[in-house]
Parts: sequence; C-alpha cells; structure tokens
Amino acid sequence: MVKAVDSALFRETLGHYPTGVAVVTAVAEDGRPAGMVVGTFSSVSLDPPMVAFFPAVGSRSFEHLRTAPAFCVNVLAADQESLCRRMATGGAEKFDGVRWRPGPLGSPVLEGAVSWIECTYQDIREAGDHFIVLGLVHELAVQRSTLPLLFFQGGYGRFSPGSFIAGPDPDLIQAAQLAETIRSQVEDLSAEFAVNCGVLVKIRGDAVQVLAANRGSVAEPFPLGHRQPIIPPLGAAFLVDSPAAEVDEWLGRAPDDGLDRRDLHRARLDKVRECGYSLLAAEPRLLRHQQAALSAFELSDRLPRHERAVQQATSELAELFCPDLLPGEVYDLASIVAPVPTGPDLPPMAIRMTALPASAPAERIESWVDRLKQVAAAAGASLTAPRG
Ligand SMILES: Cc1cc2nc3c(=O)[nH]c(=O)nc-3n(C[C@H](O)[C@H](O)[C@H](O)COP(=O)(O)O)c2cc1C
Repeated sequence: MVKAVDSALFRETLGHYPTGVAVVTAVAEDGRPAGMVVGTFSSVSLDPPMVAFFPAVGSRSFEHLRTAPAFCVNVLAADQESLCRRMATGGAEKFDGVRWRPGPLGSPVLEGAVSWIECTYQDIREAGDHFIVLGLVHELAVQRSTLPLLFFQGGYGRFSPGSFIAGPDPDLIQAAQLAETIRSQVEDLSAEFAVNCGVLVKIRGDAVQVLAANRGSVAEPFPLGHRQPIIPPLGAAFLVDSPAAEVDEWLGRAPDDGLDRRDLHRARLDKVRECGYSLLAAEPRLLRHQQAALSAFELSDRLPRHERAVQQATSELAELFCPDLLPGEVYDLASIVAPVPTGPDLPPMAIRMTALPASAPAERIESWVDRLKQVAAAAGASLTAPRG
C-alpha cells in the first residue's frame, strides 16, 4: 500500500520546482478558440518529435480543447503575465481582445509568445487526477527570442543569469547621479526641520533610495540603495504623470486577497495628483509588520512567497494613506512624499521626509508640506534645466 501524502505538502514541495508557462490553444468543435495555461509542458522525444502536457481530468478548458484535432503550445514571454492570468480563468470569453493568428493546422498562435509548437494528439491517457497528453509535433517556430515567463512558489518571475559579480545597474547609476545634483537642497531641508530626507527613484517596479540626508532623531530602518517594491497604496507619488496602463499595472500589484481596494487606491492617487504630495500616518504595529515583511523579502532573495507577504502587509497600510488634515488636530506621521517633476525623459523621482516629530498639529504639517513641495519643484527645475 502506498502511504498517503498530505496534499498541502505535495503542493508546497512541488511548488519549489520552477516551470515555464505555456498556453495550449485550439479552435474547438464549435468554431471558437479555446485555451488553457499549463506549467506542465515538456519536450518528450526528438524522433519522432513529441511533447507532453498534463491537464487536470476535471478541466473544462481541456474538454473543449480536445474536441479539435490539433493544438498549439504557446510559450509565454516574461511580459505576458496579464495574458497568462486571463488565460488561466475558466470563462469562454478569455480570448476576447487577445491577438492571434491561425497556425499551419489552424490552432491559435498568440501574438507576443516566445515560441509555438503545433501538434496533433498522439495519446491521451489518465494518470491519477490528470491526463498525460502526448502531442506529435507538426510545425514549430521561435516567434520572439526573448525571456520566458517563469512560475515558482505560486508566483511569476523571469530568468536572470547567474554571475560571480553582479553587473552595475545603469538605471541605478543614472538615478544616483541625478540625485547628487540636488543634494544640497535635500540636506538643507533635512537640517531645517531636523527630519530625515531621502531621494527615491522608480526603477522598474521598485522605489530605490539613492540619496539620504538624515538629520532626524530616529534612525532609518533601511540603508541607502534599499529597494522597495511599489505596491498600492505606496508609490502613488511616482504615478502622478503615469499613463493609465502603468496605473493599472500598479493596481494589479495589490494582493489577491479578495478585498477589492482598487477604487480606494485610485481615489488616493487622484488626491496625490491634486495636492502634489502624499502622507502616511504612523501606526507602529502595521509599519513594523510591513518593515519585517520587507526585510524577509530582501533576505530571501525576493522569493514569491515573501513578495506576497509584502503585498499583504503593504496593502494593510491603505487606511493610513493620505488622511485628511483637520485644523486644530494633531497627527503622528510616518512620512510625507512629494513627486519631483522630472518630465518624460528622466525616471520618476520623489523626495520623502521621515522621522517627523510626533503629535504634529495640522498647521505644522502644512508648513512641512509647503517646504517639501518647494524643494521638490526646485529639484525638478534643476534636473530638467538644459545644461550648457
Ligand atoms: C502557471 C499556471 C500553470 C498551470 N498549469 C496547469 C497544468 O499544468 N494543468 C492543468 O490542468 N491546469 C493548470 N493550470 C490551471 C489552468 O490553466 C486553468 O486555471 C484551469 O484550467 C481553468 O479551469 P478549467 O480548465 O476548468 O477551465 C495552471 C495555471 C497556472 C496559472
């Protein structure tokens, strides 16, 4: 008798094996395109050329797919995560708006996929709760030689080459040089209010601190060069001039916890766009929780499961983001952030004030905000001024 294996342990253990991500497509019997995402695609044999994938026995999508005589395996690229999420749903409308062309046997070849492999069914056999599908390869091609999308520990990622020496990040070097040119303004601001001031730059999906002037009485939790993934509600200051697609991408980084906070995040972003700054109220327990999640994320080589913990902990800060300031009231603030108007040719930048004195009256906060906005505007003007 085979010993029963705990299903959670099975999933957890096998989830430590990374896979690529492919969409198996076909034009089903009813004439409509069908598809499903699989991580179980594999090459099997060269002579004759065969590949395999393993759909769940209960898969409705595979039921459709198998009504066609042929199918196509589309290997997804690293920038096709949103297409993958869409194709992994159960609905019949998942092809709406998806661009594809028919392959030689008529199966959908998805635009932007790294490669495609079109097959006929050689064999479908049951193996426990999955089928083993063997496909005989008829036609195949690399369509776009680029990085593939990878799946690991329940999260998406991309391949990065191993090396003894990490190469310098050109975006980071450029950002540090830009920040250096506004150093004196930032240091003056830090000294004037005895607070910590940092210059943050958006590099890909992270906010990276590239300059620090720390005259506040509290030490900063993270060092210069620290990268923090931009997850709603945080990072709104980087998105004040961003197109809708970038805002959607930011909103899509909120955790998948069933709580749709999109409207709340959008409303807060509108407020930051209107006022030209953002505030984060200090709630020590939630902030400590978020900082601990960030530390674990960094220490673990940014593993997907730690990323999810950061998403969750950051999302829990939503209630603290951009509180209304009422005259005569006092507030404990964790940070004030103002976007630096850098224009379209430079990366989005912001100046952040932290280590702010506690129980600050609204009027005092407004004076900090006014100075911070002045410094950010002057920094933007000096960064974008033509150089002689
Ligand atoms: C990265 C990833 C890999 C997946 N791999 C498989 C797989 O190998 N086999 C499978 O049956 N389902 C797999 N799925 C689930 C299906 O794509 C899809 O969610 C499911 O088929 C939808 O339900 P339905 O088939 O009943 O329509 C995967 C999903 C994701 C996101």
